[in-house]
Amino acid sequence: MQVVRTIAEMRTLRQQLDGAIGFVPTMGYLHRGHLALVERARSEDQFVIVSIYVNPLQFAAGEDLTAYPRDPNRDRELLRQENADIVFIPSDSEMYPTGFSTWVDVEHITERLEGASRPGHFRGVATVVAKLFNIVRPCRAYFGQKDAQQVLIIKRMVADLNMGIEIAVVPTVRESDGLALSSRNLYLSPEERRAAAVLFRALTLARELRADGKRDADTIRNQMKALIDKEPLARVDYVSVADARTLDELRTIDRTTLASLAVWIGKTRLIDNMSLE
Ligand code: PAF
Repeated sequence: MQVVRTIAEMRTLRQQLDGAIGFVPTMGYLHRGHLALVERARSEDQFVIVSIYVNPLQFAAGEDLTAYPRDPNRDRELLRQENADIVFIPSDSEMYPTGFSTWVDVEHITERLEGASRPGHFRGVATVVAKLFNIVRPCRAYFGQKDAQQVLIIKRMVADLNMGIEIAVVPTVRESDGLALSSRNLYLSPEERRAAAVLFRALTLARELRADGKRDADTIRNQMKALIDKEPLARVDYVSVADARTLDELRTIDRTTLASLAVWIGKTRLIDNMSLE
């Protein structure tokens, strides 16, 4: 596995690769969720490139940019075990040299849910992913279903800007109590870790209500909120029952629907989602 730190070296290596290239962009501190993306790429593509870059553009002031967990040596070892071909680890000055002033702004779908709670977040995500796509020039790129809104935004960007990259979506990897794997789970105390399973319970409740024939979205949202409110360490940021393609909130469930939520567990904000099909 080659470790590459500059854009120039990444481009030179890329030119030498003749075959399908699968790309997994990450912010590092890899867990089984990331490794599922790498494994899927390994099974589908001839070459697998993984990037590790904690992108400052997608963190608002006051968010956890400096505290964001990092362990590059462990990440490299895990990627070696997964047989990744190249790991690209650029620096901030490499990605955003002095004078950098171009942004990718996907409209509408970025304004709700995560976009409403974290203004500017998706502008940072779309910008860095567009840059990484231009540097790596993959055939396919892999993203986790856990960040469902991010997936929709990346797909929109790829279509709108004719990037010609296939976006593959990999199912969320969960702990035994249903908690979705996330680097931020590290922040949870043992008590908070126990409480965090409430996200999965609320999503499971939504799915059960739908399976029982409930079609009124407010009923489902309210019951999810009521369940979360019973957990003393949890505070709802948002609960959504929305059109799975546009993320428009629904009144009546009459199409493919995604339940999603963001919940504060103490000082840690966790997100998750589940299809109601
Ligand atoms: O999902 C993430 O880890 C990040 O948003 C991404 C796609 C690597 C861009 O920084």
